[in-house]
Amino acid sequence: MSRFPLSPNPKPTPELERAEIMRDPGFGKRFTDHMALATWTADAGWADRRVTAYASFQLDPATAVLHYAQEAFEGLKAFAHPDGSVWAFRPEANEARLADSCRRMGLPALDDGDMLASITALVGADREWVPVGGEASLYLRPFLFASNAGMSVRSATEVTYCCIASPSGPYFGGDGVQPVDIWFATDLIRAAPGGTGEAKCGGNYAGVMAAQLEAERHGCSQVGFVDAVERRYVEELGGMNLFAVTADGELITPNLTGTILPGVTRSAILQLAEEVGVTAVERPIELRELRTRADDGSLTELFACGTAAVITPIGRFADLDGEHVVAGGRPGEVTLQLRGILTDIQYGRRPDERGWLTRLA
Ligand code: COI
Repeated sequence: MSRFPLSPNPKPTPELERAEIMRDPGFGKRFTDHMALATWTADAGWADRRVTAYASFQLDPATAVLHYAQEAFEGLKAFAHPDGSVWAFRPEANEARLADSCRRMGLPALDDGDMLASITALVGADREWVPVGGEASLYLRPFLFASNAGMSVRSATEVTYCCIASPSGPYFGGDGVQPVDIWFATDLIRAAPGGTGEAKCGGNYAGVMAAQLEAERHGCSQVGFVDAVERRYVEELGGMNLFAVTADGELITPNLTGTILPGVTRSAILQLAEEVGVTAVERPIELRELRTRADDGSLTELFACGTAAVITPIGRFADLDGEHVVAGGRPGEVTLQLRGILTDIQYGRRPDERGWLTRLA
């Protein structure tokens, strides 16, 4: 018996309509027939766990999250394997990070195992929505928010947990390996030491939006940030981590200083580096170093990574000082090899030697 018992949606999406959605789902645009829910109160703790019909929330206009943004979330994917089974990639890492984010946001963490129990129950109810074949998967979005009404800036007295699911293709569209362009918004800061930068909370993404608009005005699809103190070191992108490959065989990524999201895909890539013959190095990386080395050819590849982005090559980056092309604007070899290994594990085409997969259905 699941901790999240199912009340089936009495009006599920008709099969033909679902098939039409699944043909070209985009990213995070369409949602399945169900959602998982639970409610926390100080007296009862977590209670009322269930999977029920996907529906709008009814919120009091004074609901705390709408005013003070007290919330935390995760992103992970369910992958269909050739034998029809469905698997999640490192869900225990997402569950641990969600607990860390909750601590930072003053929210009660879920009870142990609740996140996995909720996604297992949700995927079980919406199994028909898990895309089969190609680069698509069922994107899962667990989140918690302060759902009590009131204008005092004080911690939540009621918290709602919800998990929704969205059949999704590549985040940037296309085939997922088309290189994207990055704009470094050196005048706008994402995270400062002691702030919330390493928590996965909506506020971090809200703070990115103006810079993302600036990036789009400069013809780039994603924004990059430098550190708040020295304004020299690259940290992360608007919604993903960053890696560079050097001509002398290093795979470098900014070290986690408390202002960078500890990405689950980032950590997997660091572990896969040796399989493609590069040495993983976590260290501070100056934007100036990226510029110089892109121009002299000793920076051979640059890529973004995340659950949504998977591994997306970066063909060009720019800031107010000018623009720099990487790998001739084409996907690099190390980038493609890492992407191939990662997605082969996720989709069950390669043995899961590290025990990264958990069966959901
Ligand atoms: C993810 O990669 O899952 C995220 O939450 C990032 C967001 C840009 C979709």
